[in-house]
Amino acid sequence: MAHHDREHWGSRLGVILAVAGSAVGLGNFLRFPAKATLNGGGAFMIPYFVAFLLLGIPLMWVEWTLGRMGGIRGHGTAPGMFDALDGRHRAAKYLGTIGVLGPFVILIYYMYVESWTLAYAFFSFTGDLFKASGQDGMKAFLSGYQGIIDNEFFTSLTPALLFFALTFLANFYFIYRGVQGGIERLSRWAMPTLVVIAALLAIRVLTLGTPDANHPELSVSNALGFMWNPDLRSLGNAQVWLEAAGQIFFTLSVGIGVILTYASYLKRDDDVALSGLTAASTNEFCEVILGGSIVIPAAFLFFGAMGAREVAASGTFNLGFVTMPLIFAKIPLGALFSGLWFLLLFIAGITSSVSLIQPAISFLEDEVGMGRKKATIVLGVVSFAACLPGIFFLGHGFVDELDFWGVSVFLVVFATIEVILFAWVYGIDRAWEDLMQGARLRVPLVFKHVIKYVTPLYLFTLLGVWSYQQFWPMITMKAVAIPDRPYVWGARALVFGMWAIIALLVWWTWRRRRLEVSETKEGGTT
Ligand code: PFF
Repeated sequence: MAHHDREHWGSRLGVILAVAGSAVGLGNFLRFPAKATLNGGGAFMIPYFVAFLLLGIPLMWVEWTLGRMGGIRGHGTAPGMFDALDGRHRAAKYLGTIGVLGPFVILIYYMYVESWTLAYAFFSFTGDLFKASGQDGMKAFLSGYQGIIDNEFFTSLTPALLFFALTFLANFYFIYRGVQGGIERLSRWAMPTLVVIAALLAIRVLTLGTPDANHPELSVSNALGFMWNPDLRSLGNAQVWLEAAGQIFFTLSVGIGVILTYASYLKRDDDVALSGLTAASTNEFCEVILGGSIVIPAAFLFFGAMGAREVAASGTFNLGFVTMPLIFAKIPLGALFSGLWFLLLFIAGITSSVSLIQPAISFLEDEVGMGRKKATIVLGVVSFAACLPGIFFLGHGFVDELDFWGVSVFLVVFATIEVILFAWVYGIDRAWEDLMQGARLRVPLVFKHVIKYVTPLYLFTLLGVWSYQQFWPMITMKAVAIPDRPYVWGARALVFGMWAIIALLVWWTWRRRRLEVSETKEGGTT
């Protein structure tokens, strides 16, 4: 058990905003619009909402409930929580290590991408960004910044390292200030600010009219039609269902251990049912309404259907970092809007990245027994070092590999473990009672069956289809160029090395506790 007093959230609104802050991130404004466009437009919303109801919401409740229960017993992360849930199986705590590793793996590239948005906000306001013109020019600006090529814009990686260092320090500053004084405070001003900026940008895009007089068909209503007209044929494609489920996990931050940690700072009678639902719904508003009204409609208005589809297919980053600045260059006050766009991404990013840091902090505090200051410094040093290969080897597929393990593998596997432990090992009846404890919402009873049967089955099916279609080609690096393979092996070594360290810490901690217990027992009898 933990030997220190654990922190608590200051208010119900605070924790909801923090969880919503974790959920609303780069995924809402970049990943979602690209995925929707490429996977059937409006029709994508069908598998998307099915996944929201049958995976997203149930997992949200599972994590809030498990997290609150763990926190009461002094555990903020999955190893301790799983162990407390199921005292019989010693292996449970090792399964829990994925819930500490996963967020860390996502963190070490997410924070780097977040730092680009800070740099781009800066270069928008200084005007440097607009020295680049045309698709090729903007792409060159981005690859120059990322240090992939030397060109007229950048000749070294120094600016990227500088903005990364700033982003990193900002993140660890909030972590250092603690759950209530750092994360909650940050979320309280960041979330409203973010909604205002996103709404401003959405209004700007939706009032652009027909920017090109020669192309009257490139109008706002056609832009929305392009994004939302359903292509029902896509529903027959398993890939579309996988993508929809993947987006739901990623955007809600569920299935990886992050919400467990946030919920562990709740008190015994704090509501989880309504709060979990509110945080998830806030995310959906920011994703579908706001995220769906910015990049894709804008890309359509200026580049037409073909052009918009092409950029969406060429990668999420091109949409945000190439297409958007090109569009801003063409409208009045473009530099200002561009600055706001990247600021929006940065604010959305930082409230997500702090949530990716907190599980490891909580693990070091609750299980390893460090104080917050020490945990922050230790993790700061380790994660700074772990971010560097992604920065230097971005062009060699290092980050893609981290994303594969973090999001495609650990997230889905961990979600499955978590829901099975909750509904089957702990038992759905007790689990349901826990969910209802202090609840300000009567969750319809049908969700009891969903959590017990539908969510696990859905997850198993996803895992099965996905392993069959994608796991093997990824593992054997089919799509990786031969010279890049050593880098990809490096990424794997980093991921599995970290895993070994976490597992060793778990082993050592539990052994130490056992010894302590037997010592006190012996002490008592003599
Ligand atoms: N939900 C964040 C986004 O949409 O950008 C990303 C994320 C944060 C994923 C935290 C997972 C996580 F645990």
